[in-house]
Amino acid sequence: MNKFFLHLGKQPLANNYLKYYSKNQVKYNLNLFFNTKDKLVSISKRIPSKKMFNNNYPYKSSMSLTMRRSFLDLSKEIKKRFNPNLILEIGSNDGALIKNFDKNNAIGVEPCSNLAKITSNKGYKTYNNYWNFKLAKKLKKNIKKIDLIYSANTLTHISNLNDVFKSLAYLMPNDGILIIEDPSLMECIKKVSYDQFYNEHIYVFSAIAVKNLLDKFDLELFDINNLSTHGGSLRYYIKKKSNNNVKIKSSVKIQIKKETKFGLNKFTTFKKFAIKTINSKNSLLKLIKKIKLNKKIIIGYGATAKATTVLNYSKIDNNHIDFFLDTTPDKSNKYMPGKKIKILKYNQNLLKGVDYIFLGAWNFKNEILKKEKKFIQKGGKFITHIPMPKIF
Ligand code: TYD
Repeated sequence: MNKFFLHLGKQPLANNYLKYYSKNQVKYNLNLFFNTKDKLVSISKRIPSKKMFNNNYPYKSSMSLTMRRSFLDLSKEIKKRFNPNLILEIGSNDGALIKNFDKNNAIGVEPCSNLAKITSNKGYKTYNNYWNFKLAKKLKKNIKKIDLIYSANTLTHISNLNDVFKSLAYLMPNDGILIIEDPSLMECIKKVSYDQFYNEHIYVFSAIAVKNLLDKFDLELFDINNLSTHGGSLRYYIKKKSNNNVKIKSSVKIQIKKETKFGLNKFTTFKKFAIKTINSKNSLLKLIKKIKLNKKIIIGYGATAKATTVLNYSKIDNNHIDFFLDTTPDKSNKYMPGKKIKILKYNQNLLKGVDYIFLGAWNFKNEILKKEKKFIQKGGKFITHIPMPKIF
């Protein structure tokens, strides 16, 4: 049974950065639910994928040094540990991972044509498709053997998880490896990062929920790594149950025990999270209003989808935040979804006269603090809402 625990207001499509501001941008209710049977946390409203992932998807994985490094490290680990002849990446984005592999050893699947073009222009075979059973059948017919399938921050965007995992199990050879990586529900609850929820993020996974899902398709976890990316993620290593050649590491039991102790299998945990989220929203707005009483300048840094959730839920507007800075070319000179707050192309000179920076990309805090030493030395301050609203 799906039990409701939090309403995050009416939200526009999180990555829909508009060139011209419109008061009438379509918004959808963002409600969160916990499934008491399979322990999966999800949002209720399902927007058709075509509306979100199309020919002008702005997000590019390569935009941050942190992610480039994370993918480089993973590619080294994959080569050393699994030595695959051929890997397939689902949601290959702008090729941040596959560019670390030889063109003959890596294939991408990417539904956003503007992104798929980037990797195919570089010589990587890229299927400009959504991940589903139809594509899995096509791949099985056309390709001899895919040794390893990888997907980061993508499967949680697909509504029909049964189809997702049925297709994966179908395509995987008996000795195949599947690695998936997504924000960790436990870290999300601990950090009160309610902004991990937006209309693209249909699910935020726990190891408990992933295990329950895999069980249905005769797949199982054999290792789990905790990562610091995206505010705390889990990397799940998966194999077929029938493959006894791969040893199951203790990390699997340890993570599931930790999550059970934390209460990720209980509805009350999410009710408490809902109360913390409401308090976080109220105190962020109060903090920002107090700063504005003193006529200080606040800007946003990192025009993230997460920031879309925060701004629209907390009712933060252009009388609070002057503009956002972001390095992504496709976000420049557009408006934050649902808000009349402009995004400007990152340029350090634009920080002159700024008193406070609201960290939209709080998950890259270390990278940003390193970059903005000058701003800090001149007395500039940051505002974050993670884990509770504060100035630092
Ligand atoms: P991310 O946190 O991955 O996004 P989302 O919530 O949308 O999934 O996105 C980080 C955004 O911040 C991305 O648009 C790039 C931007 N950014 C900067 O502008 N400067 C920086 O130094 C960093 C690290 C990120």
